[in-house]
Amino acid sequence: MPVSENDSALPAHVAFIMDGNGRWAKERGLPRTSGHQAGAETVRQVVTFARKRGIRYLTLYAFSTENWSRPAAEVAALMKLLSRFVKGEMPTMLKNDIRMRVIGDRAGLSKSLQHELASAEEKTAHCASLDVVIAINYGGRDEIARAASAAMRHILLEGKTPEALDANAIAAHLDSAGIPDPDLIIRTAGEKRLSNFLLWQGAYAELIFTDRRWPDFDDTDFEAALAEYAGRVRKFGTV
Ligand code: FPP
Repeated sequence: MPVSENDSALPAHVAFIMDGNGRWAKERGLPRTSGHQAGAETVRQVVTFARKRGIRYLTLYAFSTENWSRPAAEVAALMKLLSRFVKGEMPTMLKNDIRMRVIGDRAGLSKSLQHELASAEEKTAHCASLDVVIAINYGGRDEIARAASAAMRHILLEGKTPEALDANAIAAHLDSAGIPDPDLIIRTAGEKRLSNFLLWQGAYAELIFTDRRWPDFDDTDFEAALAEYAGRVRKFGTV
């Protein structure tokens, strides 16, 4: 782990809490699902921007473990949107050397979506210009609990005692194992909280909050966030 000042002006990994779709739609007299559709356009645009800008990893909080409590029609629309995105963007991803990965508890998703996600991951596994990590049915606490449980199972199977469970053992069993921690987490639409997103991985991430609704977030906003990040001094707990 780097221990001194900002070792790079450009974050290798940017993560987004894509908030404000509902408010964006309401402000225009549209149904909330129109906000999510517009949000999917923004996803395309930030992926394009990230690749052009040389960002190596992009994580997007698409559906949280708490989002199931939304109206059934909205949940269904979001699942459909995700499925359509994953299938529809496949040719573009392959053409642009973009790898797709998923974090979150897949077991809670429909069998067909599970299959589509696994297929997209498999087809793009060789791509290496940009990793787009989509968090679906994702919750930081849930991910850590599942990782701790898997790590403990591994430890006991190896004949070791529970004391062998350390931070490295848990990190190795997170959904995001092998993906570097985010350098920068950006949340749109004004709220200043993490909402159960990347609780473990974001321990030393820089946080940027913008009032822009996710569907309005554009390249200029992304560039401004990168400029703000470049001016931050990262210390990782040292002086
Ligand atoms: C939060 O806005 C946004 C979501 C719960 C869903 C995010 C999903 C997308 C942007 C669409 C598709 C994603 C991909 C990866 C293709 P909100 O509904 O909570 O907005 P509000 O706080 O204004 O109500």
